Amino acid sequence: MSTATLTEAERVVRADLNYIGQNLEVEFSRLAGKKLLITGGAGFLGYYLVQAVLAYNRLVDPARNIEVTVYDNLMRGMPPWLSALKSDPNLNVVRHDIIEPLPFDMPAFHYIIHAASIASPIFYRKHPIATMDANVNGLRSLLDYSRLQQQRGTPVEGFLFFSTSEIYGDPTPENIPTPETYRGNVSCTGPRACYDESKRFGEALCVNFAREYDLPVKVARPFNNYGPGLKITDRRVLPDFARDILAGRDIIMHSDGTPTRTFCYVADAVAGYYKILVNGKPGEAYNIGVESPEISMRTLADLVTQLARDQFDYRGRVVHQVSIDANYLVDNPNRRCPVIGKARNELGYNPQVSLEDGLRRALTWYNEHREAEDA
Ligand SMILES: NC(=O)c1ccc[n+]([C@@H]2O[C@H](COP(=O)([O-])OP(=O)(O)OC[C@H]3O[C@@H](n4cnc5c(N)ncnc54)[C@H](O)[C@@H]3O)[C@@H](O)[C@H]2O)c1
Repeated sequence: MSTATLTEAERVVRADLNYIGQNLEVEFSRLAGKKLLITGGAGFLGYYLVQAVLAYNRLVDPARNIEVTVYDNLMRGMPPWLSALKSDPNLNVVRHDIIEPLPFDMPAFHYIIHAASIASPIFYRKHPIATMDANVNGLRSLLDYSRLQQQRGTPVEGFLFFSTSEIYGDPTPENIPTPETYRGNVSCTGPRACYDESKRFGEALCVNFAREYDLPVKVARPFNNYGPGLKITDRRVLPDFARDILAGRDIIMHSDGTPTRTFCYVADAVAGYYKILVNGKPGEAYNIGVESPEISMRTLADLVTQLARDQFDYRGRVVHQVSIDANYLVDNPNRRCPVIGKARNELGYNPQVSLEDGLRRALTWYNEHREAEDA
């Protein structure tokens, strides 16, 4: 399709996929001709994890194509973007719940990305056991499979587990910005524990499988990714703001606006994840995010309002409203900001998209993706 016939949102996605591909020339050439499994590939990060590989395939000789298989329980339905790719010969989508035993006819995958987990706080608090099972038992099945593949002489060459910045909990002030060496300040019984603690245990599994069995298992700790692919109904902060803006109503903020975050545009983050998969050290975890700006939710809401005013002539204001969900802010970290020197120095991770540019791209995408299934 020529760029002249693309919608604004399609242009954003096309530009992002090119940007990811340029960042990953070396890494994708290592995956060339290989089989890649992405669990949870129908989700937000899957949107670019999957499409970046398929975009690479279109540029190279068919013998170098990367075959992608997605295992996803499609708990929120089959997303339209994934249905639209169903005729791609290098994509295989399997409805599979990672909590269940792995399919008996599982092919010999060279690379595995385990991203299947409920990720949005509202939803993991609603389904705590399913969240823990995906991050502990689902991960364990995939690690056991990797061990078996090693014994069969068809070893997995790279394995990436999606952990989270939430494993740090609410870091003490002297540990912000937060390096990978910080051990965390986390409740093991609070409403977020199902997520934070299962990711922590998942990391322990990964490190020990890497050490004991010499498997190439690596861990990513994402810090607040946003952008195209994150459903407007996901109930994370930016889709919530976008939903209010596109409905023409005031932006509702459920906190007092003081907690701070750093936001990493998804195209930068996805480049980082593939870099870990291919070049990360076995048994090591890497922060993936941006160091700045660390902004308060109030400043973020004001910035999004301003951008929406320029883009859509939006006239709403930012208002504070206590959430009807009593646990909405319980154990919510006050500040979150990473040190990313390890990924920069060891992997050449180099996020470039500014917050304003990323938010503009996200709003453009939401403008054409106003509807999505609720959970
Ligand atoms: N997006 C972020 O900023 C962020 C931050 C920290 C960690 N993460 C982690 O990255 C991974 C992907 O996150 P995302 O933002 O794309 O989340 P998402 O909710 O958009 O996507 C997750 C996908 O996993 C699938 N899934 C959930 N449980 C499953 C199961 N038991 N079996 C099979 N599929 C299952 C869902 O159907 C969904 O398609 C998750 O592990 C999440 O914890 C993401």
